[in-house]
Amino acid sequence: MTDTIIIGGGSGMGLALARTLLAQGTDVTIVGRSADRLAKARTELERPGHGRIGTITADMGREEDVAELFARVEKVEHVVVTAADATGVYGPTADLATATARTLIETKLLGAWLVAKYAAGRVTGSITYTSGINAYRPNGANTIMAAANGALASLAYGLAIELAPVRVNVVSPGWVDTPIWDQLAMDKQAAFAELAERLPARRVGAPDDIAQAFSALMHNGFITGTVLHVDGGHRIT
Ligand SMILES: NC(=O)c1ccc[n+]([C@@H]2O[C@H](COP(=O)([O-])OP(=O)(O)OC[C@H]3O[C@@H](n4cnc5c(N)ncnc54)[C@H](OP(=O)(O)O)[C@@H]3O)[C@@H](O)[C@H]2O)c1
Repeated sequence: MTDTIIIGGGSGMGLALARTLLAQGTDVTIVGRSADRLAKARTELERPGHGRIGTITADMGREEDVAELFARVEKVEHVVVTAADATGVYGPTADLATATARTLIETKLLGAWLVAKYAAGRVTGSITYTSGINAYRPNGANTIMAAANGALASLAYGLAIELAPVRVNVVSPGWVDTPIWDQLAMDKQAAFAELAERLPARRVGAPDDIAQAFSALMHNGFITGTVLHVDGGHRIT
């Protein structure tokens, strides 16, 4: 029995959420593909007096993995999905390998749907997905990611009706300093500095900014079918 499952909780914003919840005494299971990454996260997160941390290795894009993950859980209060692999997905549509686009959709969108399919009847409180600013401010080099992220909003609206009273929401982060940027061939610090100047918040996001937003959606029983934009004002620039 665990209180919260975080798929993608081995790093970035999922890890920040795990840290926050564990410190509040919540039992958390983090899920990802790399057993090593999960083990490192577990070592970092384990603290006397905090909630218990569990790890499960699973690929959200594989139906058998998602089915097995939830078969191991009788009941879980909250499920949060932060998992995404952005490797190779950025660039002009004409140059993008179809297999890359398909893998992204199969994890980020169909994987999110699989989570709902197998969590249904087991999750009692909420499901929260993670989309992203590029759904609302596409830049001409992230179209397939924008499409997957945008579709997550409609998925959440549909599921919020279908799975009620389980609440289903989406957090849409702006640019946040996490390991996902290491997959991109770019000067991260220069890009962050340039964006920070333009953002109303005058900085890029930290994983804890997003963890706080997940926590708000998970624990406020009157929020469902909502996309919460946590982007330093990026969407209105
Ligand atoms: N950081 C940003 O600026 C930003 C902006 C907008 C939106 N987002 C979105 O925010 C979410 C979280 O990203 P992050 O920045 O925290 O990135 P991150 O640190 O790379 O975290 C993603 C996590 O997902 C796991 N993962 C990837 N593919 C998976 C799969 N198929 N099955 C299970 N686990 C998988 C990864 O672990 P393994 O590799 O071990 O599986 C990793 O721990 C993503 O959905 C991303 O698209 C991020």
